[in-house]
Formats: sequence, structure tokens, C-alpha cells
Amino acid sequence: MLFAAVAFAASVVGLFAKTLVGIPTVEFNVTSAAQFPLSSVTRVLVDEKYQDVVDLDGKTLIPPTLLAFGRTFAADLLELGLHVPVEVAGSAQPGSVFLTISPDVFCDAASRNTSEGYTLTVGAQGVVIAGASPLGAFWGTRTLIQQAKLGALELPIGSGSDAPGWGTRGVMLDAGRHYYPPEFLTEICAYLSFFKQNTFHLHLSDNLFNNVDIYSRERSLDLYAAFRLNSDDPVVAGLVRPYRFNESYTRETFDEIQSSCAARGVTIIPEIEAPGHALVIVQWKPELGLADLSLLNISHPDTIPTMEAIWRTFLPWFHSKTVHIGADEYDSALADDYILFVNTMSSFIGSSSGKDIRIWGTNEPSNNSAVSRNITIQHWEFFEDNPFDLIKEGYTLLNSDDGFYIVGKWSGSYPQQLNITRIFEGNPAGGAWAPYVFDTNNATNNPPRSDPSVPGHIAAQWNDYGPNATTVSEAYYSWRNGLPALADKQWGGVLTRAQYDAVFEELHSVIPGQNLDRAIASKTDVILRYDFAAVNGSTITDSSGNGYDGSCTGCSIGNGVASLSSHSSRLTTPLSSKGRNYTLSFSINPSSHTPIGASILSGPDSALVLGNGTLPSLALVSGNQAYALNYTLPRDVWTDVALIGRGNATFLRAGGAPEMQFLAVLGINGASFEWQPIAVEAPVAQVGGDGFLGSIAKFQLTGSA
Ligand SMILES: *[C@@H]1O[C@H](CO)[C@@H](O)[C@H](O)[C@H]1NC(C)=O
Ligand SMILES: *[C@@H]1O[C@H](CO)[C@@H](O)[C@H](O)[C@H]1NC(C)=O
Ligand SMILES: *[C@@H]1O[C@H](CO)[C@@H](O)[C@H](O)[C@H]1NC(C)=O
Ligand SMILES: *[C@@H]1O[C@H](CO)[C@@H](O)[C@H](O)[C@H]1NC(C)=O
Ligand SMILES: *[C@@H]1O[C@H](CO)[C@@H](O)[C@H](O)[C@H]1NC(C)=O
Ligand SMILES: *[C@@H]1O[C@H](CO)[C@@H](O)[C@H](O)[C@H]1NC(C)=O
Ligand SMILES: *[C@@H]1O[C@H](CO)[C@@H](O)[C@H](O)[C@H]1NC(C)=O
Ligand SMILES: *[C@@H]1O[C@H](CO)[C@@H](O)[C@H](O)[C@H]1NC(C)=O
Ligand SMILES: *[C@@H]1O[C@H](CO)[C@@H](O)[C@H](O)[C@H]1NC(C)=O
Ligand SMILES: *[C@@H]1O[C@H](CO)[C@@H](O)[C@H](O)[C@H]1NC(C)=O
Ligand SMILES: *[C@@H]1O[C@H](CO)[C@@H](O)[C@H](O)[C@H]1NC(C)=O
Ligand SMILES: *[C@@H]1O[C@H](CO)[C@@H](O)[C@H](O)[C@H]1NC(C)=O
Repeated sequence: MLFAAVAFAASVVGLFAKTLVGIPTVEFNVTSAAQFPLSSVTRVLVDEKYQDVVDLDGKTLIPPTLLAFGRTFAADLLELGLHVPVEVAGSAQPGSVFLTISPDVFCDAASRNTSEGYTLTVGAQGVVIAGASPLGAFWGTRTLIQQAKLGALELPIGSGSDAPGWGTRGVMLDAGRHYYPPEFLTEICAYLSFFKQNTFHLHLSDNLFNNVDIYSRERSLDLYAAFRLNSDDPVVAGLVRPYRFNESYTRETFDEIQSSCAARGVTIIPEIEAPGHALVIVQWKPELGLADLSLLNISHPDTIPTMEAIWRTFLPWFHSKTVHIGADEYDSALADDYILFVNTMSSFIGSSSGKDIRIWGTNEPSNNSAVSRNITIQHWEFFEDNPFDLIKEGYTLLNSDDGFYIVGKWSGSYPQQLNITRIFEGNPAGGAWAPYVFDTNNATNNPPRSDPSVPGHIAAQWNDYGPNATTVSEAYYSWRNGLPALADKQWGGVLTRAQYDAVFEELHSVIPGQNLDRAIASKTDVILRYDFAAVNGSTITDSSGNGYDGSCTGCSIGNGVASLSSHSSRLTTPLSSKGRNYTLSFSINPSSHTPIGASILSGPDSALVLGNGTLPSLALVSGNQAYALNYTLPRDVWTDVALIGRGNATFLRAGGAPEMQFLAVLGINGASFEWQPIAVEAPVAQVGGDGFLGSIAKFQLTGSA
């Protein structure tokens, strides 16, 4: 450790231990009153001895090399304004951040070895990050970026050894009852990774609640149910209906998601849910259902072979050592069937792929059989299992207690955001919550912190009310403000609430690999303004000062107006979407020749459309759902319009009338409806382009509402 030696030699203050505030926190021994300025870093150097080493002890089967992580790190330094090349070298040099592998053994909360530990050594002339594995080194680079951001691009001189308390840290997203584009999932991985979370569990098949009290068999067979992996193997032909091909992942797409996430140290854990929540399989093969068609009849001779055929098809797609077979909420009167199912799937998956499995903790009492102890039980509710009792019986218990459950948009039982108070105060024995805390009210139900039967924690987000209850990004906003705090606790950090509140937004502003906020850089609150005063070639000048000039094809521009005269006329901006908060205002004069359904504005996340194809009501489209106002924009006259994104709600002001609110209408189990706000990004990529005819003026986007 070249720089450690330099640092100790230069020591003027003597060694003192300090907790570096970050998310998570890092224990560090400061050895100098001086600071190391990041501006003196000219290179990221990757130790040539270890450049091709990969972490074989982690959760993924596609672990990046140390060099690959080094390249990702160097690119991430751009967030701090640093452009530095990556090189391979035999040793650290002045002005370098040297990435290498440490000979040290790093241990977690249960004294298990972990490959995710690292040391960070900051000397007067450079930095050395030595990981237990390349992944450990990558986590060390997250610490460097965070400390540099919080320290005005200076790092404290000294060294620290850091390792996670638990090996499984992350979230689950219900992608069965809501489709999420691959890019969104990849951005969520980037979000998790910045806070050293390593697991993204994707729930890939599910259905809306099959309300057998009121649904006919026909209605159940037509109820929203989806399976998101689309293979052309004839064995599974029909499992994904053709109309949902565009809301499912091909092998190529799923590979891309898994490798993009692995590049940032996040492993995708895929879940295919059966024998409960399995309506999509019964819609495919109706003979396999019980009276409640969302449950598979395990004693039907084709059920287990069908599930084996599905897994045989998809196991080769999965690059994780563990897969999840669901096994949630089955009929407890059929416990022996249930146990037969999970044990059979465990041995089938184990023998055909070497992977182990997880199931959701489910109350299935049997006097004849027991779930195999090599299956990890993912506890979620005390009415389903008692995790500490199961640990005493020899099981491994992953903590997903519903104390941190989220249901998108609305629920009779669960919140829509993580409970931050519970994160910082949720240990019934006192202090902060941690992964071994299954019960936040009763310490008797929790094993000791050092219990090796607890691999970690996964916070789950569900879409009980289906695809039209939320937009894609609302899943992110449910986690945005609380998840990093939870990440500190999943790692074993000691961040306080006050420290978290002080640093969260600053760290949020430099999370690499994502722009989930759909933020747009701007000098002032006015992000873009087109006055259409005069044309300069085909350029439309942005008078905001940000230089977001646009262009228009098939338009005439001048005297403050842009007129789109053909069905393919389009005005394009260099922007795409603006997230909350925003006000997008303009004057518009749509021609009566504009077809119903044409878009006024569109972008990658949303569109503002003049009706849904049959009705002329103004609607906001996000994903494949349209949220309509009871309002029709008048034709052949000018109207001043403002589309407003304010917190988790979206409004429209037209003319001098009061604001109208876009609402989602949630169907609650076929029994009732709930009207709730919907938050849609402003579509700012394009005006017109698919049929709009008419004129627009005073086009302006601001970052406030
Ligand atoms: C931990 O790692 C060290 C060094 O590689 C090894 O000697 C030891 O056996 C490991 N312990 C366990 C429990 O795997
Ligand atoms: C700080 O230094 C002490 C004494 O050498 C050592 O025991 C401790 O592990 C160090 N702490 C960290 C976080 O590296
Ligand atoms: C389940 O399948 C078995 C075997 O085919 C059959 O005897 C039984 O009636 C089925 N159960 C239901 C509820 O359909
Ligand atoms: C788990 O144990 C069962 C026997 O209980 C065995 O059939 C199966 O192959 C094992 N699975 C793995 C992944 O080791
Ligand atoms: C929306 O925001 C309001 C006010 O900030 C809050 O009370 C409500 O819980 C939020 N709703 C959702 C679904 O997040
Ligand atoms: C948040 O968690 C705390 C601690 O568990 C609890 O007292 C409080 O009621 C929770 N708040 C909400 C809104 O659920
Ligand atoms: C706490 O949990 C223990 C063990 O499950 C139980 O015996 C006890 O009644 C619980 N205490 C309370 C106050 O619920
Ligand atoms: C437009 O909305 C109305 C009312 O919700 C609906 O009946 C009609 O089918 C929709 N048209 C299209 C093309 O979606
Ligand atoms: C998928 O295709 C269907 C049918 O054409 C369409 O209604 C839906 O909007 C599409 N979904 C997405 C996410 O593009
Ligand atoms: C829509 O608005 C019109 C008047 O603007 C009103 O007569 C009608 O009842 C409204 N429809 C709904 C569904 O609210
Ligand atoms: C957006 O507006 C809401 C409501 O005024 C406010 O609570 C929130 O802090 C604002 N968000 C941002 C990012 O400015
Ligand atoms: C949303 O989906 C539910 C089914 O979950 C349905 O009952 C409801 O009508 C839908 N809402 C809209 C606005 O289409």
C-alpha cells in the first residue's frame, strides 16, 4: 500500500476513527489534517495482475472483470466533471485511483466471508481501492464518488476497511401486473447500485386478484394476467399472447437487462409465480386450474410437467445462481400438494441447472411432509410463517416482511412510499431497523444480528390494481426518497435520519447511469422558450438561454406562430421528457381537420393527445394507458393551455378556466373504483408529427408548478 505509507509518514493529527457520512456510511481512519483533491487524479489504473479476475462468490453468473468495473467507474467520474482515462498498470502511481484485489478476508454480520468488502486508502498523492473481489472494488468506487461529491471534490486522507453485513440487499418489483420497459429496469439497477444494493428481484408473472365471489369462469379467463418472458420455443407457444409481445421481454432483451445490471453489480433474480397467482398459465391451459382459476391443480398429471417445461425453457435465460418459483398464497388445505410442488421444482431446477430456489413464505401446515431445507424462504407476513421459528428448524429466511411493502398508488393495507421513520427507528430492541429485524414491534420474533440464517433483505413493491393504476415512473417515485436510507441499513450502515436528510439530495444529483427524475439542466427556472419570432434557417431559437434550439419540418414559422400544415409536420426539440415539477405552457389553435387521436405533444414517456381515437376528450397517454379529461380542446380558435406536473399529480389549465386534474380510475378487485392522481412526465420531444394540423405559439417549459 504505497499511499498508506505516504499518508502515515505525513500524519500530523495522528490516527482517529471517523464515520464517513455517505449512503451507506463508511468507517474510516483519518491520518492527516490535509485533504486529497480529486482534481489531481489523472488516471484510473487497474492492476494488471487482476484485470481479468471476476467474483465467483457473488450472486451473478456474469460477473464483470476488474477492468470492466474500472471502465464503468471512470465513465461515472464524469458526473463529478472529471474526464480520466482507464489504463492497466502494475502498481499505483501519483495522480491515480488504483483498483486492485486485496489479500484481506472480509466478514459480514454473521462472520461469513464476503466477496463484497474493500479497503479504501487515500494518500497525499493518490487513492487505492482494493476489493475482496472486483465487485468489492466497485463498491469502493461508489464510496469514492459519494465522498468526493459531499467533500467538494476532496477526500479525507487515511484508510478504511468496509464490508456489507448481509449479502442480499435490494428490492422486488411486480412486473407481472404492470409492464416496465427494459430501459426503466436498467435505470433502477443504476439507482440501487449507487447505494451498494446488489439484488433486483423481478416478479415476471401474475394476475389481478381473481375475485371468485363475483367473477364468472369466463370473466376470470379474461382477467388481466401476464407472463413477461417471450420465447419462440413451441413448448411455450401461446403463454404470451401476441397482443402482449410488445409488453414482454425476448431473450435478447432479457440478456440486455441482466448484463446492464450486472455491469453495476446488481443481479436480476427472476421469479415465475406458481402454483398460486398463476392465472396466466391457466388462461393458456385451462384444464390445469382449480375452481379458483388463479391456482394450479397440482394433482393434475400435466401441472408439474408444464411447470418443468416452462422452467426448462427459461432456465438458460437466467444468469443468476438463484431463481424464484413464487409459491405464494396457495390453498392451505392442499399443503401436501404445495410441498410436493416446491420440492419437485427445487430438485428439477437444481439438477437441470445447478441453481437454488426461493419461495415466498406461505402457510401450508402438513403432518406428512416438509419444504426442503435447501430452499430459501422469503418471509413476508407473520400470518404466513414465523421466520425465527423456521430458522430454529434449520431454514434460511430472507427478510421481505411487509413492514416495507409498497402497493402502487392505493391500497387498503399498504402505503405508497417507504416508511422512513421505520427505517431509522424500526428495531423493537431500540435503534434502527436492520435485515435481521423481521418484526418491527416485537423483539422476541427476531433472531440475533449475527444469525447466519438471514441472507439479507428485499423490499417489495406490488401492483395489485394493475397496469392502469400507475405510470412506469411512479414505481420509482415510491422508492425514490426512502430506498437509499434502507440501503444503508441493508448494508449495515449507521446513518442517522438527520444525516440522511442532509446528504440525500446532493448524492442523488450524481447517481450515474440514470435520469429517473427526467431532470433537464437549466440556468434558470425557464428551461426552454420558443417565441417563433423569426426563422433562422430551419432552426427554432430557444430564448431561455439554455440553447435548446428546435427545428420544424413541414411548418411555417414567424410572427410568433409555428403552423403545422400537413399531417406529418413536426416540431422537434432536443429534449425528451421533464419529470416533476414542471409547467409546459403554450397557445394552440388546432384545425378542425386534425383527426381525433392525433398527438399535440409526444416524448418517450408520454403524449398529450386530442382524444383516444373515438372520443375527442383531451388525454394524457403514458405507457399504453390513456388518462382522459372531461374536456375537449376547441378547434379553429386559440386557447392558452398549461400542462402542469405538481408533485404526484398532473393538471391542465385551458383558457381562463380552473385547473382540471388527470385521474387514474383504479378497478378494485372488480368490486369498486378509486379515483387517484396520476403523475405523468411532460412530453417535450415533439409537437405534432402524427396528424396534428394547426398552429402553436408561446411554447415554454419551466421547472416549477
Ligand atoms: C474465509 O476466507 C479465508 C481466506 O480465503 C479462508 O481461509 C476461510 O476458510 C474462509 N472461511 C469460510 C467460512 O469460508
Ligand atoms: C482503524 O484502525 C484500527 C487500528 O489499526 C483498526 O483496528 C480498525 O480496523 C481500522 N478501521 C477501519 C474502518 O479500517
Ligand atoms: C385436479 O386434477 C385431478 C386429476 O386430474 C382431478 O381428479 C381433480 O378433480 C382436479 N381438481 C379440481 C378441483 O379440478
Ligand atoms: C435440495 O434438496 C432436495 C432434496 O430435499 C434435492 O432433491 C435437490 O436437488 C436439492 N437442491 C439443490 C439445489 O441442491
Ligand atoms: C401524493 O402526494 C400527496 C401529497 O403530497 C400525498 O398525501 C399522497 O399520499 C401521495 N400519493 C401517492 C400515491 O403517493
Ligand atoms: C411508520 O413506521 C413507524 C414505526 O414503525 C410507525 O409508528 C408509523 O405508524 C408508520 N407510519 C405510517 C404512515 O405507517
Ligand atoms: C412477541 O412474540 C412472542 C413470540 O412470538 C409472543 O409470545 C409474544 O406474545 C409477543 N408479544 C406481544 C406483545 O405481542
Ligand atoms: C375511447 O374512450 C371511450 C370511453 O372510455 C371508449 O368507449 C372507447 O372505446 C375509446 N376508444 C378507443 C379507440 O380506445
Ligand atoms: C402494445 O400493443 C398494444 C396492441 O397493439 C397496444 O394497445 C399497446 O399500447 C402497446 N403497448 C406498448 C407498451 O407499447
Ligand atoms: C363532462 O362535462 C360536461 C359539461 O362540460 C358535463 O355535462 C358531463 O356530465 C361531464 N361528464 C362527466 C363524465 O363528468
Ligand atoms: C413539486 O411541487 C410540490 C407541490 O407544490 C412540492 O411539494 C414539491 O416539493 C415540488 N417538488 C420539486 C421537485 O420541486
Ligand atoms: C383500469 O383497470 C380496471 C381493471 O383493473 C378497470 O376496471 C378500469 O375500468 C380501468 N380504468 C380505466 C380508466 O380504463
